Amino acid sequence: MYTLGEFIIENKDHYPYSIESLLRLFSSIKLASKEIHKEVNKAGLTRKIIGSSGKVNIHGENQQKLDNFAHKTFVESFKNRDVVCGIASEESKNIIIIEKHVNNNISEDKYIVLIDPLDGSSNIDVNVPIGTIFSVYYKKKKSISKNIITIKDFLQVGRQQVLAGYIIYGSSTILVYSIGNGVHGFTLDPSIGAFYLSHPNIRFPNNEKIYSINEGNYYRFSYGIRKFIKYCQEEKENRPYRARYIGSLVGDYHRNMIHGGIYIYPKTASSPKGKLRLLYECNPIAFLTEQAGGLATNGNFPILDIIPKALHQRTPFICGPKNIVNKLKEFINYEKK
Ligand code: AHG
Ligand code: MN
Ligand code: MN
Repeated sequence: MYTLGEFIIENKDHYPYSIESLLRLFSSIKLASKEIHKEVNKAGLTRKIIGSSGKVNIHGENQQKLDNFAHKTFVESFKNRDVVCGIASEESKNIIIIEKHVNNNISEDKYIVLIDPLDGSSNIDVNVPIGTIFSVYYKKKKSISKNIITIKDFLQVGRQQVLAGYIIYGSSTILVYSIGNGVHGFTLDPSIGAFYLSHPNIRFPNNEKIYSINEGNYYRFSYGIRKFIKYCQEEKENRPYRARYIGSLVGDYHRNMIHGGIYIYPKTASSPKGKLRLLYECNPIAFLTEQAGGLATNGNFPILDIIPKALHQRTPFICGPKNIVNKLKEFINYEKK
């Protein structure tokens, strides 16, 4: 029975930076996720955590009380460790700079963290899995020498991530992460508050069987996406695939990575740039996807190669096992001809 901490130490040779700083970063992620686990599990009992906060966030979406709680809990937890110098959150318009950690001289241990504190907000009230997604970089070399943090530290290309992962608050609470050495999952034992290794080295199975897309938008999709949906439904070879979509990226992705399936959130007539956020949702999930042997693309380019231009940038998003993602790309390319 490996705890997360033991596993990180055991695999320290695969991490090119300070393992101590990684452990400190993880201790803040673990602490915040346990706080959220606790609240989520009593959500039916206390009204203070369910429902709208009455505010609209930067994306024009209704902010839920739990969005707010998760944002504050993670930000406080990161502030209280010495290793994070900047935070960007889906729930905050601007970047959060932690001055005291920018200005001290231990420059090599400075992480930039981007989070979607609560993913799947629409599912909070109905006991469907929700999650937290995190993406971590080092601050850029120039910032280290000048001891400043700028927006450029946050707009790094996804391939530069040093750590990415998510926590799923589902039938159990599971933390899944990668430092570029495979994807590993740890289940929380709530009775003692420890995360134990339960899913070592997760890989997408090759016999893909699932497609996940909000098909209610069918007539808003491009011709290629619509043709692909019909391909998934065809009675041929190992098809039809099963349709599974709950509307929590973390929940849909976790299932697809374990059982084998493609997740698609394309651009639509009403969201021409896509819906999901490149920095908080797509980059970390794309990092895990490549580490689990799959592909993540916006339809034209690998997600991890997109140069971000803005903090809250959106992108079309497709991820899953290589075979089926390549099949979808054939439909998209055919459409372009
Ligand atoms: P968030 O709750 O962080 O705003 O994210 C919601 C996202 C994602 O989790 C999910 O896959 C997608 O929105 C669902 O969107 P639709 O309801 O349009 O399908
Ligand atoms: Mn989200
Ligand atoms: Mn969110």
